[in-house]
Parts: sequence; structure tokens; C-alpha cells
Amino acid sequence: MNAMTQDGYVTADGRQIGPVVMELRNITLRFGGVTAIKDISFDIRQGEIRAIIGPNGAGKSSMLNIISGFYNPQEGQVIFKGQPRPAMKPIRSRAWASPAPSRTSRCSTACRSWTTS
Ligand SMILES: Nc1ncnc2c1ncn2[C@@H]1O[C@H](COP(=O)(O)OP(=O)(O)OP(=O)(O)O)[C@@H](O)[C@H]1O
Ligand SMILES: [Mg+2]
Repeated sequence: MNAMTQDGYVTADGRQIGPVVMELRNITLRFGGVTAIKDISFDIRQGEIRAIIGPNGAGKSSMLNIISGFYNPQEGQVIFKGQPRPAMKPIRSRAWASPAPSRTSRCSTACRSWTTS
């Protein structure tokens, strides 16, 4: 990896990684008395491939649901393109990720459940 700047960096295999697109800041998510995610922070840059790994019950699915906007954390913030992303309903989270959703576009099982209002 070449030197990282605010604008990004170039990977060892020559891919250009851009500026930060999404920041997860101090995310805590609870289901009643169960703390699924505790004070987790990281960012995602344009073109970057990130993985979330951990044992069963570590909170991977919960974090993906926060990234998509399906869950809203009790603590912390999701910053998208420099702006705090508000709490929103699933149909809004889909529109946020894709400004012009098409009801006829091909879609995975996971996103099919988001297409109807
Ligand atoms: N809807 C829910 N209601 C209550 N507790 C939940 C809910 N979803 C997840 N949890 C709890 O939150 C914690 C994190 O669960 P999560 O499903 O995010 O983990 P995971 O890393 O995706 O696990 P797995 O590897 O089994 O898919 C676990 O203790 C789980 O039991
Ligand atoms: Mg899971």
C-alpha cells in the first residue's frame, strides 16, 4: 500500500482507493439487555473492500443492518458522505443507497423485502 492521504491511497495491486464514504462512530446496539455491538468505530473508503469477521453472535449481521439503515444504534453515529445519516424506515434506507430505485430491477432476496412501501 502506498502512503495514505485524505484523498485515499493505491493498493499493492494498483487499485485506487478514494476518500472516506461512510464512517461508523462509536456504535452501540442493544436488544433489550443484550448488547450486540459495543462502541465500534471504523470507516469505509470509496473502492475499498472491507470484511466484518467474528464468531457466531459477534454482531456481524447487526452491524450490516446498521450500515444498511435497517437498524438504528442506541449510541453512535453513521456518517455518510460527510453528513450524519438520520434514522429511517427500511424503504427510506433503500432509497438513500440508490436514489432512483426501480421496482422492476433485479434484486436479491434480502433487498426484495425492502421494495414495497
Ligand atoms: N433481533 C434480535 N433480538 C435479540 N437479540 C438479537 C437480535 N439479533 C441479534 N441478537 C443478538 O445480538 C448478538 C449479535 O447477533 P448477530 O446476529 O449480529 O451476530 P452474528 O455475528 O451475525 O452471528 P452469526 O455468526 O451467528 O450470524 C447475539 O447475542 C444475538 O443473540
Ligand atoms: Mg449473522
